[in-house]
Amino acid sequence: MGIINKCLFPVAGYGTRFLPVTKAIPKEMLPILTKPLIQYAVEEAISAGICSMTMVTNKHKKAIENHFKPHADIEKSIKNTTKEVLLDEVNAISEQCDFSYVEQQEMLGLGHAIYTSKPLIGVDAFAVILPDDLCTSDSDSVLLQMIKLYKQNPDCCIVAIKEVPESEVDKYGVIEGELLKDSNNAYRVHNMVEKPAPIEAPSNLAIIGRYILTHEIFEVLKSTQPDKNGEIQITDALMTLAKVGKVIAYQFQGRRFDCGSVKGFIEANSVFAKEQLQSL
Ligand code: UTP
Repeated sequence: MGIINKCLFPVAGYGTRFLPVTKAIPKEMLPILTKPLIQYAVEEAISAGICSMTMVTNKHKKAIENHFKPHADIEKSIKNTTKEVLLDEVNAISEQCDFSYVEQQEMLGLGHAIYTSKPLIGVDAFAVILPDDLCTSDSDSVLLQMIKLYKQNPDCCIVAIKEVPESEVDKYGVIEGELLKDSNNAYRVHNMVEKPAPIEAPSNLAIIGRYILTHEIFEVLKSTQPDKNGEIQITDALMTLAKVGKVIAYQFQGRRFDCGSVKGFIEANSVFAKEQLQSL
């Protein structure tokens, strides 16, 4: 108990905020500099000791699968040139990790996407990364920080949280909780509200795209009712577990870029570009 071997990447969404580019290119393939968001996400999972990657995808997202497969023609054309190293990182990922894919047939929400992965997940707890939330950290990756907390609380799901301006709480699931004993960054969650109006929000601690989920989540998702838009929300399923004290919210150390929004995507590219230019 307490070991996380699998990471799930729900990537079936259409990324409509990025149209027209996402008509033919999956949102997760958009680059921060020259590396696609999905590769940053997989690298974060590897940094947390995980080598088994499962993606919930759809028929329009084959580019993600191709990204982690060898490309013999390109490799042949750059062999023995200075460009050879440019594929080293992604080739190393393909060699050390296994990838599995399952199609979400209908876009019925993040909770439904996670439920779709059930046959591939097995019986243990697992990590979830939403690749459009790009997280960076000077020390342990955000996922590794969360796994360390999970090991001390193996009956609980862990959600990553971040303080957001009050005016933005209506874009997130927001938690209400009390600090765990001897902790200044982990809360036992009592309540979670999906996209509250600022005046009704229980806090400004917003859930972002990193989770550790116990296998119990599948049982709960099975009986979670769709919301008014017909989507099954992971927040609603987690609320059922929070009621019995089984959800911990963790305020991680590090920076998060909301690359699911055009503003956050531009910001990430600008911060990474500045760093790269300084190092040249
Ligand atoms: P978003 O709410 O960001 O939706 O999904 P989206 O489709 O990716 O983007 P927009 O809003 O149209 O621009 C959050 C995460 O949940 C996944 C998405 O792929 C993304 O990683 N998701 C969402 C699914 O896999 N299936 C769904 O039915 C819904």
